[in-house]
Amino acid sequence: MKNETSGQLTEKFNQLFAGGHTNYRVPLQITENRLFINKAQGGRVWDLDGREYVDYIGAMGPNILGHRHPEWVEAIKELLDTYSTSVGSGILQSTDDIELAERLIRHIPCAEKIKTCITGTEAVQMALRLSRAYTGRPYFIRFSGHYHGWMDNVLGGLTDPSPTGKPFAVQDPDSDPIEDYCFTKGKAANANNESFLLPWNDIEAFENTVEKYGDQIAMVHFEAVVCNHFCLMPKPGYLERIRELCTKYGIIMSIDEVITGFRVGLGGAQELLNVTPDIATFGKAIAGGVPFSAVMGKKEIMAQLDDQLVLGPGTFNGYPLGIRAALATVKILAKDNGAVYQHIAEVQNQLETGLKEVAKKNGIPMFTQGIPGVFFTIFGSDTEQVIYTDDQLEEFIDYDVYMQFWSGMQENGILQLAGGRWYPSAAHSTTDIEKTLEAADKVMAALGSKGIKAKGEILKNDDPLVGYRKTWVDDILYMEFGKLTKDIAIEAATDFKKELDRPETQKAIFIARKGAKVMGPAFSKFSKEVDKYEGDHLKALAITVRNKAARFIVEKLLPKDDPTDIRIFLDEEKAVAWLSAYKSKEQSEIWLKEN
Ligand SMILES: Cc1ncc(COP(=O)(O)O)c(C=O)c1O
Repeated sequence: MKNETSGQLTEKFNQLFAGGHTNYRVPLQITENRLFINKAQGGRVWDLDGREYVDYIGAMGPNILGHRHPEWVEAIKELLDTYSTSVGSGILQSTDDIELAERLIRHIPCAEKIKTCITGTEAVQMALRLSRAYTGRPYFIRFSGHYHGWMDNVLGGLTDPSPTGKPFAVQDPDSDPIEDYCFTKGKAANANNESFLLPWNDIEAFENTVEKYGDQIAMVHFEAVVCNHFCLMPKPGYLERIRELCTKYGIIMSIDEVITGFRVGLGGAQELLNVTPDIATFGKAIAGGVPFSAVMGKKEIMAQLDDQLVLGPGTFNGYPLGIRAALATVKILAKDNGAVYQHIAEVQNQLETGLKEVAKKNGIPMFTQGIPGVFFTIFGSDTEQVIYTDDQLEEFIDYDVYMQFWSGMQENGILQLAGGRWYPSAAHSTTDIEKTLEAADKVMAALGSKGIKAKGEILKNDDPLVGYRKTWVDDILYMEFGKLTKDIAIEAATDFKKELDRPETQKAIFIARKGAKVMGPAFSKFSKEVDKYEGDHLKALAITVRNKAARFIVEKLLPKDDPTDIRIFLDEEKAVAWLSAYKSKEQSEIWLKEN
């Protein structure tokens, strides 16, 4: 296996593993070019081919100390040498358990009593069971764009824009799942009817719901800052109002601290934002890289587990390896008045400032949004506005550019989460930051030379596309025409706009746009082909890119008996005509066949 290339191993891996280790909308660029890592230390990892990377993936959050922090490793080694990784939950305990629980209760505002599990997913389900048992009520509230693990009752669905009754999650009006990032087949039939799904940061929607149904709602569960989604911040006063209404209606307020726990500080987001929930769920960073999670909260809610009327079993609950890793992590983080947090803040500040400077220098519209320990680079604008909602975000973001940046950075030895998320850690050094900014400069210079512009700049009043910017049509247009020169864009767009007025086209684009969200990577791949060509060829190529994407949607995503005549979208003749203007007819036809 030593002599096999990453390409060969990727192929093997994809044959052996179903969907990889996680398949939560992982872009094709990743699944088709997997990195196989054989060494990790501090803020860096090395792949099988000997390439070195600065790692800001941070294991998707847990690695707040970086890889193999010496004190953390020492504590675990000591456990392995003298004790056991697992002794039998519920029957045998160790003094580590007591020490950890005492520390957690000291640091975390809502924690009066704790219950441990293994994954964040489990902790969330435990919180829900405790809340239902405590209140005797059936429903809970969750918010769109938030992620709370992979169980049916917290995964997917769309908010009902005008609910006539209880605001359960709905599927897309066309029963097309693609708009819904957390869509999965195989959910229990009633899963969407366990919770009310509300838009984030819409206090009126929350007030109306609890006013009408408060006596049937057990819990409201949310990330205080939506770290899973561009760090959308809570609007000023929003969390406080939720707290107030939860108290008024006897609803249990539960903050999902699976990402924020220990990452933003030892007291989590609840301490940072000064809002104390009734219970909270923790995971990821609390054990610094070993699977471990916990629910913590008010004594009377947690104590329901004491009389065994609420069950919380689990072979590995409170397993010594997890407890020891969490204990080591909290000790390191608490040392020297939180010196590690000061270091991470410094790293993050230098990264955010440096990346913005490099972007500005290269004429790339980009801004960052984050909280201590996690931030996003968002391409499409250099706005200084705080982003609270998806609608607001849509005005600024350019999904296509960030994927180009992401892959450019990986090629230059910098790893970050696809989606633009960065997790700085205790292990990142000045050298790591320098290397990162150097790479960013190189990648952004290349992007800059392609004429990437701020989203708003393209659509002036005299632009034929004006008016489409804020609609779902826009993404498609931008993705395909945004890279073209202004004149060609106008010409192509004018033509395209004629098509737009036809209802069949509207429907086709609606579907295509939803497809584009899921197929972001596929679009990027096609765009790469476009990038190979220069000047006017782009116009014709852009059309074929669109056609190809549409064909993909027809073949893969539409039900076989869908009546939509999406073929109007597959206008090959037009593409051939355009191509013919720039290449010979034969060449064009060959190209079209190949593509
Ligand atoms: C906020 C939040 N809650 C819950 C979970 C689920 O945690 P796990 O993946 O450990 O099951 C995640 C995972 O990303 C998360 O981000």
